Amino acid sequence: MTERIVVALGARSYPIDLGVGLIDRAGELLAGHVRGKRLVVVTDETVAALHLPRLAAGLGEIAIEPIILPPGEATKSWSQLASLTDRLLALGVERNDHIVAFGGGVIGDLTGFAAAIVKRGCGFVQIPTTLLAQVDSSVGGKTAINSPAGKNLVGAFHQPARVLIDPVLLDSLPPRELRAGYAEVVKYGLIDDAGFFAWCEANAPALLAGDVALRLQAITTSVAAKARIVAADERETSGQRALLNLGHTFGHALEAETGFSARLLHGEAIAAGMALAFRFSASQGLCAEEDAARVAGHLRAVGLPDSLAAAGVTASGEALAAHMAHDKKMSGGRLPFLLAHGIGQTFLDRDVDLAAVAAFLDDEASFARS
Ligand SMILES: NC(=O)c1ccc[n+]([C@@H]2O[C@H](COP(=O)([O-])OP(=O)(O)OC[C@H]3O[C@@H](n4cnc5c(N)ncnc54)[C@H](O)[C@@H]3O)[C@@H](O)[C@H]2O)c1
Ligand SMILES: [Zn+2]
Repeated sequence: MTERIVVALGARSYPIDLGVGLIDRAGELLAGHVRGKRLVVVTDETVAALHLPRLAAGLGEIAIEPIILPPGEATKSWSQLASLTDRLLALGVERNDHIVAFGGGVIGDLTGFAAAIVKRGCGFVQIPTTLLAQVDSSVGGKTAINSPAGKNLVGAFHQPARVLIDPVLLDSLPPRELRAGYAEVVKYGLIDDAGFFAWCEANAPALLAGDVALRLQAITTSVAAKARIVAADERETSGQRALLNLGHTFGHALEAETGFSARLLHGEAIAAGMALAFRFSASQGLCAEEDAARVAGHLRAVGLPDSLAAAGVTASGEALAAHMAHDKKMSGGRLPFLLAHGIGQTFLDRDVDLAAVAAFLDDEASFARS
């Protein structure tokens, strides 16, 4: 019942174990990562209340030293990082110890960054509890906090030693968070696996309604795709890892426009961003209109936004392009962009004219207003 995927990174390779009810065997699975029968577990208040007792039971003889932080994006801050590292040091964490990140992407990113800098780097284990964290943030070693200048601008590459993924933990996730995470699942199909996109079209309703076997299958396919891409391009230098940003340049502009708030969750912005990336590709004659329509149709069918209007954004193309112009990857009025030749055929165009993107978004915005 348990699947194992290895992220092949030489000496930094690590296994990702996936299975229904894996959490109940956490003690046996993590035995090799525990010193003195004590494990520091960083989590948030919501996850602690829902799932920490089960993790404790699964750890058996191993006692938890819990560090429980407030839930929410604001926890990825300098002040929380400072107090977390102080507490880890007070607990006597050593370089060869492993601390556990038990939560969504916020807890994973913060804990991973703390692990990267405590004693110049200690070990850590990811036990992700949101769909987004299970299919995306817990794999690949990007860790970060936010800065007043923007999201994820201070961080480090620091790979976990182990990842345990149990879809049972998702049963308590609010449906809106589940759907937002599902957008990143669809992304893997759109990048380079048209067969998986078709699988998503067929299975999304049952998967979102709670079918745990389908959830496990979707997560396993997603993680295998991410592991393969990360192994090929760990630090996003060759362009392969950049494929994971499909929908993200458009999506970040929508998030910026809505103030990175609960008005539009990250996954919702990425859903609309992927639909826009496909329509922009079609408008440039790169991709068939039918493919763009099929992408939007699937997102709409599962209740994700597929347009500016559905994302609740009424800004002009110019205003949205202005957010993109602040992108860290921008140079000379041109921006690297993920475009598509079709479903499962995403490619990186390093030289997209921002003015053309603005004109396209203006058409989309006036369509939304009409
Ligand atoms: N490192 C990476 O590669 C990477 C990739 C993508 C996203 N991220 C980061 O991930 C973060 C978003 O992650 P997220 O969407 O998991 O958000 P999150 O960690 O804020 O979790 C969302 C909400 O769900 C709650 N929650 C978590 N698990 C739950 C469960 N099982 N049942 C009920 N509620 C639960 C949390 O308390 C929180 O309120 C962002 O900060 C983003 O930058 C990082
Ligand atoms: Zn994302």
